Amino acid sequence: MDTDARQPLIVDSQSLGRRGKLPRHIAIIMDGNGRWAQQRGLNRAEGHRAGVQALKPIVKECAALGIQVLTVYAFSTENWARPQVEVNALWDLLVEFLRSETPELKAEGVRIQTIGNVGALPPRAQRAIDAAKHDTAEQTRMVLNLALNYGGRDELVRAVNRWLDEQRPVPEERYVTANAIAQHLDTAGLPDPDLLIRSSGELRISNFLLWQLAYAEIYVTTTLWPDFNPMELHKAIHAYQNRDRRFGGLRE
Ligand code: IPE
Ligand code: IPE
Ligand code: MG
Repeated sequence: MDTDARQPLIVDSQSLGRRGKLPRHIAIIMDGNGRWAQQRGLNRAEGHRAGVQALKPIVKECAALGIQVLTVYAFSTENWARPQVEVNALWDLLVEFLRSETPELKAEGVRIQTIGNVGALPPRAQRAIDAAKHDTAEQTRMVLNLALNYGGRDELVRAVNRWLDEQRPVPEERYVTANAIAQHLDTAGLPDPDLLIRSSGELRISNFLLWQLAYAEIYVTTTLWPDFNPMELHKAIHAYQNRDRRFGGLRE
């Protein structure tokens, strides 16, 4: 049920660059690790391990294509509802990923950032995140933005509260504005996503980037995240390049 099934199967990176505008910012809901594991008689943590492996070539390919920002949904504010062993396995995998991949990401010019309430993560995860951010702070080719303990509603509430805090003791503004909200979101300074990709076929947003996705083009593939590869990414970008983005106006 790819949302753009009429697209050709193989699209090479060069032709993507030639064809038209690349998305500046791609956001991905990396879904389907559990079902991938289940299909193979493996436990869910093994599905997540395979999911981390799938992410690496996607980050590289996005950097190679010239994408400016890649935001990946790795853990939602709702994912705490999962069994403790699964949640722990996810933090272990994050720590392992950051420790092993940061040097190579840095060498590729990737800057690691996060969105979400990272202060509520286990200390070992916070330490690994701080180190990865610090080590890649000077890189400018692409931002890899990890959404960790991220929820769109939580982010909006924190943004408004940050803005309110700035209005004390003496209010500078009486009313909040759209700009003020955008500037207080975790994504402040980043362009909104142009393309949202969701793997595993689910047709929902699951509390991801509620504000920022206002005009994103949505691409859903039934491919489970551990099977998502650069060719799937090319298909998604190719589909994006064939969309007619009107932003509420009329076609050019
Ligand atoms: C996505 O895969 C990864 C996280 C939510 C952390 P899932 O674990 O949601 O996989 P399914 O949806 O159960 O197959
Ligand atoms: C969304 O996937 C969150 C991540 C991919 C991290 P979920 O699997 O948690 O979403 P639902 O429960 O299917 O909506
Ligand atoms: Mg899921």
